[in-house]
Amino acid sequence: MKEQGKIWMNGKLVAYKNAKVHVLTHALHYSTAIFEGIRCYNTPRGPMIFRLPEHVERLFKSAKMYSMKMPYSKKEISDGIIKTVNANKLKECYIRPIAYYGHGVMGLTPTPNKVEVAIACWEWNTGESSAGKIHGARCKVSSWLRIDSRSQPMQAKAASNYANAALARVEALRDGYDEAIMLNYHGKVSEGSAENIFIVNKGEISTPPLNAGILDGITRDSVIKIARQEGLVITEREIDREDLYIADEVFMTGTAAEVKSVSEIDNVTIGDGKVGDITRKLQHAFYEASRGKDERFSEWFTPVQ
Ligand SMILES: Cc1ncc(COP(=O)(O)O)c(C=O)c1O
Repeated sequence: MKEQGKIWMNGKLVAYKNAKVHVLTHALHYSTAIFEGIRCYNTPRGPMIFRLPEHVERLFKSAKMYSMKMPYSKKEISDGIIKTVNANKLKECYIRPIAYYGHGVMGLTPTPNKVEVAIACWEWNTGESSAGKIHGARCKVSSWLRIDSRSQPMQAKAASNYANAALARVEALRDGYDEAIMLNYHGKVSEGSAENIFIVNKGEISTPPLNAGILDGITRDSVIKIARQEGLVITEREIDREDLYIADEVFMTGTAAEVKSVSEIDNVTIGDGKVGDITRKLQHAFYEASRGKDERFSEWFTPVQ
């Protein structure tokens, strides 16, 4: 993020250095924040935000699951996102809207505090050459289980879910892997620490269902729609740990990761260890679709100018 950039805070654009929160902000102590991760891509028709209404919808659903009353309408948040991208003069960026309980009354109960909203954006290293694209990621099945919806609403993109995810990520990195794969309380595969997961067997693609405790990923949804358009078979079903090891291909999806190939899990080589044919096909198809080069998905874009 550039220090001369602007951040939208509670309806106003403020300078990067002035975008501050109080140390007694409720969310800092009790994780009472919900957020989004969105991408803006430089398409042939100019900079466009990818699936903006779906991201804003998910932000509001996350707030609802936590009984957080959003102080702005969906339109105001969408306009705020567009305004922030424009103010930062970025053609391609990652966008982070966040709603959180501010400061005022300390203690567990969040509701006496004001709900504050901020939107920031920053440049993101894009392109088909990043890790997981040319060579696959090495993953570890985490010793930390994914918390499930009996404990917290896992379909909410809530800061509190990320304490669990960060434990898994740090463990994986510490043990020399690139990323973690988390099992749920039933021992079934749920997702990566910040990505959804897919496996491929004999040309058929499977991914865990929403009730495996996963985030309803917007890239996951895009990839499912693209795959079906391409005539590929894709099913939501429970996946066991051993299914990972014997899959022909494994890949992960997310706004940041896009479509990332997995080459090894717990030191077991997946397929022949190279980026598989279906993964490569979907990487390319997603790349084209997200960069506005596939007319079939033109409704996924919101112009910023
Ligand atoms: C836990 C988790 N699962 C899945 C995803 C992928 O979701 P999306 O494709 O909407 O970015 C993310 C992305 O942030 C995530 O944090």
